[in-house]
Amino acid sequence: AEDGYRLWLRYDKVQNSTLYNNYRQSVKQMQFNGSSPTLLAAKRELTNALQQMLNLQPALVNSVTSNGTLIVGTPKTSANVAKFSNDIAAAGDEGYFIKSANINGKSCLMIGANTDKGILYGVFNFLKLLQTGQSLQSVAINESPKIKMRVLNHWDNLDRTVERGYAGSSIWKWHKLPGYIDPRYIDYARANASIGINGAVVNNVNASAISLTKDYLIKASALANVFRTYGIKIYLTARFSAPIEIGGLKTADPLDAGVRQWWKDKADEIYKYIPDFGGFIVKANSEGQPGPQTYNRNHVDGANMLADALKPHNGIVMWRAFVYDDKVPDDRAKQAYNEFKPLDGQFSDNVIVQVKNGAIDFQPREPFHPLFGAMRKTPLMMEFQITQEYLGFSTHLVYLAPMFKETLESDTYAKGKGSTVAKDIEGQLDKQTLSGMAGVANIGSDVNWTGHPFAQANWYAFGRLAWNPAQSSEAIADDWLRMTFTQDNSFIKPVKALMLSSRETTVDYMTPLGLHHIMGTGAHYGPGPWVGNLARPDWNPTYYHKADSAGVGFDRTSTGSNAVAQYFPPVRDEFEHIETTPEKYLLWFHHVSWKHTMPSGKTLWQEMVDHYYRGVDSVRNMQKTWSLMQGKIDDARYNEVKQLLAIQEQEAVWWRNACVLYFQSFSKMPIPASYEKPD
Ligand code: GCU
Repeated sequence: AEDGYRLWLRYDKVQNSTLYNNYRQSVKQMQFNGSSPTLLAAKRELTNALQQMLNLQPALVNSVTSNGTLIVGTPKTSANVAKFSNDIAAAGDEGYFIKSANINGKSCLMIGANTDKGILYGVFNFLKLLQTGQSLQSVAINESPKIKMRVLNHWDNLDRTVERGYAGSSIWKWHKLPGYIDPRYIDYARANASIGINGAVVNNVNASAISLTKDYLIKASALANVFRTYGIKIYLTARFSAPIEIGGLKTADPLDAGVRQWWKDKADEIYKYIPDFGGFIVKANSEGQPGPQTYNRNHVDGANMLADALKPHNGIVMWRAFVYDDKVPDDRAKQAYNEFKPLDGQFSDNVIVQVKNGAIDFQPREPFHPLFGAMRKTPLMMEFQITQEYLGFSTHLVYLAPMFKETLESDTYAKGKGSTVAKDIEGQLDKQTLSGMAGVANIGSDVNWTGHPFAQANWYAFGRLAWNPAQSSEAIADDWLRMTFTQDNSFIKPVKALMLSSRETTVDYMTPLGLHHIMGTGAHYGPGPWVGNLARPDWNPTYYHKADSAGVGFDRTSTGSNAVAQYFPPVRDEFEHIETTPEKYLLWFHHVSWKHTMPSGKTLWQEMVDHYYRGVDSVRNMQKTWSLMQGKIDDARYNEVKQLLAIQEQEAVWWRNACVLYFQSFSKMPIPASYEKPD
């Protein structure tokens, strides 16, 4: 179990003897001055890792006297680094460079940055070179993040339950804070810093106002003290009705002077305890949460009130666009756009609107949210879900980078071709000053942090993509596997392929061809396409698939809910017609006849059945691949994954049989006799 705890920061001894010797030659000495907590943490990480990987304790030197000196510093702490002015300038506030260089006629390695935090990131990435077996011969790396706020959203409650958490209880031991600092907080911060995550919202979006009371602010400040060293800011969810619940006011109306003053005072109080507090996230008027609409005000009124309170302290409001109720009777997918688009341009400059990747809710596959590209005067922040609420919890092996990338690479056409979602959230589409990506964390108190050993890869991939959305799923998986398991290519190659296809496999056995929201309601685990009797129509799976004897799918074209009109042309025109809609989104946008001829020449029915069967077959192939990995990694993790894959196989069959048999009751068409019998 301990094998899982170390995540991708294992620092196992380098096995390849050539590399081992070369690395040792490259870091015989180290020049690393500076005494800030962050620099000391970076130095500690470096020396621990070198000791473990290379059995090496480089001598600390003040001047470069021999080949193989590693120089680490900022212009303030190192005159040698200061000479690299171009690299320093390129690094910005958070970036760094790693270079082989000739200093005083000696061949050296440099890790340089403008800031201590840049050094920390540089050190982790230098170590990654060693962890992934890269040559240090002629390194030249210049890195800086494309997105400013790279934030984990913990849906953690104060009683340590975690909403949609599948890896144990919350890692925040509120009852022991601020007195007891669990060493795990430090390892959490190290892991985040290693991938560039620089923010954490520590309480659930469905918040208790208690988080904002003095006692809990003092507890939060103890976490902030740990995080700060690792460049991570703490954020809190602000419950909109807090002025009533903990402030004793009669209202939470954002235009009420007393309410506004209460939030100003609250912000001042928070910054007294947490001087670098990041700001608030707010879930307002969604799923029963209070918000400005309760007082006939709108999102701007609510967000700007909080923004005013935080402004003097440089705090940010992350206002969520995940809003729905039964106000849009024909199509829940349209509500966020309807509510937010008209408000574009009215938000204060320290507000960023946080939008889920798709318009429904973290389904295995959704087309990109139509708000991306549409809010041209408002910075938008991406919200991805790392925890696998709709993707098999921590039981199914699903590598999510391809899913994140699919959204990031989608072209909104907001400013013509090339207006990708990534560009929008990088703030590049309209030169926004704020930019952000949030990931709903999958972290819990399980020894291995994320429940499934492979779910660690999703935390890792989120961080890497928040730093730079252009990185490939494959490169990220490769790095993660090498750092987390082994450098053995006979393991890396097949397991990487397994990871890369795992998300498509899951879509195949859960929601192929644009199907969505057909899971068991409540738990969101397993199939439930037959459920149609819940109190709210927009909670029913039948509302989303609309299967009948004629066909299946949600007509969101101009003949239906016309949600397609929320996209820019030519995307909207593409989605308007069956022929031009990408097959993977077909039933998201169209009600399609069971007998419709698909590009493959098969009927829709046959195509759907094939997807479900292929999904199960693919899981069986994953099992076969995995069984060949025995002995290449530690038995504990090998066996854990093997058992989880066996559950995944059973549940893929469960999904397949349930969906195929249920939809067959409408299509009345056969399942090929050669197929395994669903029962
Ligand atoms: C989903 C999830 C809820 C969560 C909500 C949100 O609906 O099931 O548990 O609170 O998303 O993102 O606010």
